Amino acid sequence: MADLPAIPYAPALIESMRSVGYSLESAIADLIDNSISANASCVAIQFRPFGDPYLAILDDGDGMAPDEITEAMRHGSRNPLEVRSESDLGRFGLGLKTASLSQCRKLTVVSMKSGVLSARCWDLDFVAETEQWLLRVPDSIEEIRRLPQVNELEAQSSGTLVLWQEMDRLAAGERSIESALGEKMDQVREHLALVFHRYLSREPGRQKFSITINNNPVEPVDPFLTFHRATQLLPEEDFLVENHTITVRPYILPHISKLSPDEIVLAGGEEGLRRNQGFYVYRNRRLIIWGTWFRLARQEELTKLARVRVDIPNALDHLWTLDIKKSGAYPPEVVRINLRRTVDRIAERSRRTYTYRGRRTNSNGILHTWSRIQGRDGVFYQINRDHPAIGSLLDTLDTGKRALLETVLRTLEATYPADALYADMASDRPQHPDDPSMESLRELAILMVDAIRTSNGDVTGLLQNLHLIEPFSTQPDFTAHIVKELNHVD
Ligand SMILES: Nc1ncnc2c1ncn2[C@@H]1O[C@H](COP(=O)(O)OP(=O)(O)OP(=O)(O)O)[C@@H](O)[C@H]1O
Ligand SMILES: [Mg+2]
Repeated sequence: MADLPAIPYAPALIESMRSVGYSLESAIADLIDNSISANASCVAIQFRPFGDPYLAILDDGDGMAPDEITEAMRHGSRNPLEVRSESDLGRFGLGLKTASLSQCRKLTVVSMKSGVLSARCWDLDFVAETEQWLLRVPDSIEEIRRLPQVNELEAQSSGTLVLWQEMDRLAAGERSIESALGEKMDQVREHLALVFHRYLSREPGRQKFSITINNNPVEPVDPFLTFHRATQLLPEEDFLVENHTITVRPYILPHISKLSPDEIVLAGGEEGLRRNQGFYVYRNRRLIIWGTWFRLARQEELTKLARVRVDIPNALDHLWTLDIKKSGAYPPEVVRINLRRTVDRIAERSRRTYTYRGRRTNSNGILHTWSRIQGRDGVFYQINRDHPAIGSLLDTLDTGKRALLETVLRTLEATYPADALYADMASDRPQHPDDPSMESLRELAILMVDAIRTSNGDVTGLLQNLHLIEPFSTQPDFTAHIVKELNHVD
């Protein structure tokens, strides 16, 4: 058999590769991966939408010598089958080029290493003109220094500046690049805050890492709300795949009623709380996929509080079918088996957090209007006959009327709208009408006091414990006031 060279046609291939499917935020994240792999502790993103618009990503990492930049700019600079160091976030030898050129027509990489400043540039128009894979090399240091942000790079002992110019993709379909960039940079900030949150929040034993956008620091967003007291941590589990450890740690987020408006935003908003349930897969602590159960569970309302952190090492990339953008991967069967067990464990726990909410108050001495009864066939709710409002009423009635009241109570219990309540809870509609007013509480207290007196009972105990009785327990200030009034009347 004979051989024939079939060399890719540069202008066509480099143009087609722009459409791998990067968004602005995933492209920038890919460059930050490179900075992290190069041991950077600070990444400064600057964008200028006016004049000659540009976007610059400057890091203080190891930097590259001139021939290292040339190599880095080559498509397929590294073989994906290569074994990489544990902290390397790269895999394909493509990100720098494909991510950048998906957004701009002119990519310049300037780097500083061992006191040498050098630069190389991919210019799509030049490739089209020459029909060759030709990199541009600036003629002089002065030419490099005329590029934006190079001053900042030169002030550092080492580092790399990635510069995007002629950002045609950003401007496409927009009124102006100014408004487009401003808006999109907000999305970029949100994306980076989540994707790199474990770097930004400085996990114990790790070096400090920060990202700024136009000098504003990106604050980490922790999808597990680990800082929240009501977040439940389930035990961490490890399992081995091809001798590499995968670590799984489930979290159950607090019920939405326990979150402040700011915390709800952090958890992804009310809608995000449901949508973002599922696995959060981190490759070397960098988030690659989130908010999916990999079809191992349904996105149910009842599992919506569950989020599971999965840590995978880059040595298992081949099993996860990682994509070039590092935004897609699917677990291999050995992993799925283990994850399914985790799903069962947490779905049960999450369900409990969801449906048992409110029961906890039983243990703090509050006398509830409704009792939750665990029967053999499930749970049901009964009106608490020991509640003073009911008890005192029963005491005033003769036997016939008591039977009538009992029938009424049973009818209410039997027609309790459990299904509707369940649906409303799941969709987080408010579950309570307004808090009881001072007036209605006073009326109820007076009714109970009168009823007890009518049957010659003693009201002292009632007044002493009124603050522990629903609905008074929800309004301690009003209740104290009412008790004072009633004691005074006495
Ligand atoms: N900011 C940087 N600092 C130092 N070296 C860098 C930087 N960015 C890229 N490089 C070098 O350039 C090489 C090519 O980067 P590129 O992003 O194209 O591929 P990769 O990171 O190896 O793999 P992937 O395609 O998975 O991102 C890197 O392997 C690294 O050696
Ligand atoms: Mg890379």
